[in-house]
Amino acid sequence: MADGKVAGEFKEIKNMKRILTGDRPTSDSFHLGNYVGSLANRVKLQDEYDAFILIADLHALTTHFDKTEDLEKNIRGLMLGYLSVGLDPKKVTFVLQSKVPEVLELAYFLGTLTPRAVLERQPALKEKLDQGEQDTFALFQYPVLMAADILLPKANLVPVGKDQKAHVEFARDVAIKFNNLYGEVFPLPESLIGDVPTLPGTDGQGKMSKSLNNAIFLTDSAEEVEKKVMSMYTDPKRIHPTDPGTVEGNPVFVYLDAFGTDADKPQTTNYKLLYSKGQVGDIEVKKYLVKILNNFLDPIRQRRDKLEKEPELVDRILKEGTAKARTEAQKTLAEVKKAMKLDYFV
Ligand code: TRP
Repeated sequence: MADGKVAGEFKEIKNMKRILTGDRPTSDSFHLGNYVGSLANRVKLQDEYDAFILIADLHALTTHFDKTEDLEKNIRGLMLGYLSVGLDPKKVTFVLQSKVPEVLELAYFLGTLTPRAVLERQPALKEKLDQGEQDTFALFQYPVLMAADILLPKANLVPVGKDQKAHVEFARDVAIKFNNLYGEVFPLPESLIGDVPTLPGTDGQGKMSKSLNNAIFLTDSAEEVEKKVMSMYTDPKRIHPTDPGTVEGNPVFVYLDAFGTDADKPQTTNYKLLYSKGQVGDIEVKKYLVKILNNFLDPIRQRRDKLEKEPELVDRILKEGTAKARTEAQKTLAEVKKAMKLDYFV
């Protein structure tokens, strides 16, 4: 990584399927739920696929148009997060969406093939409006821009959460429409929905999420992790350490299963048994979890500490990936215009 070579140089990418995933830079840090839900999967996929990761700052504007001053910091934070969990710039092309303006041009063309009613029906739009987001044109055309993100680099597979599946289907539908009307330009993308677990928050009330204030971040210090774990929700019915406790769905044990190594398994199994029989206290199990989580986070912290001392390297990785993606985007867009017979007056 230190040599900052462009992705693909060390990989025979010709026969590899291309995957594209993306994140909106609405925050500068990842939490354990993001790790379990998507980052861990990406680390695995980078070896099997020609992987693109898009930082969708234009999409972030659909909800953060009044917080543009945070975007630069958030983008750097996401990059540090990706690299510190082990995404390797030799294998992954990191792309900053707004620096590939061709995506907006393609989005316009795709918009000409998109009936308004299809966009009106998208479930994600209703959800965002219910959450109080402004009913802007950019929010309305969100799936069109996302389809352009996917089709511009001719991605085959799009690993996303269930909530994004409809958007990938939209991209596929519009690609079919384009190919039928103008000729085969786009491979048809498919979503890749892994059976990724959702991690409960430290409050045990729902999914881990920054806005619910129940998250442990990859950037939390060992002390912060300890503080959060020691005040974690466990089994509310258990008053004394001698009361039999519930293991199933208890976030402490969910985390132990998710972040313990194989070597930790016998001890974890033992604690589950003792806990269910009322033979071990919450405090002892939580102290064990603190150790497990910090063991998991330490190498991530170390990589991040190193990268934080080399901000120009991190910037260069993003710029080089974006430059590579842009070259491909320009190629695709030229094909698009040729197919549409818009390659006149050039
Ligand atoms: N909509 C995605 C999200 O909110 C982010 C995203 C933008 C994306 N463009 C993409 C994901 C292209 C996959 C492919 O999570």
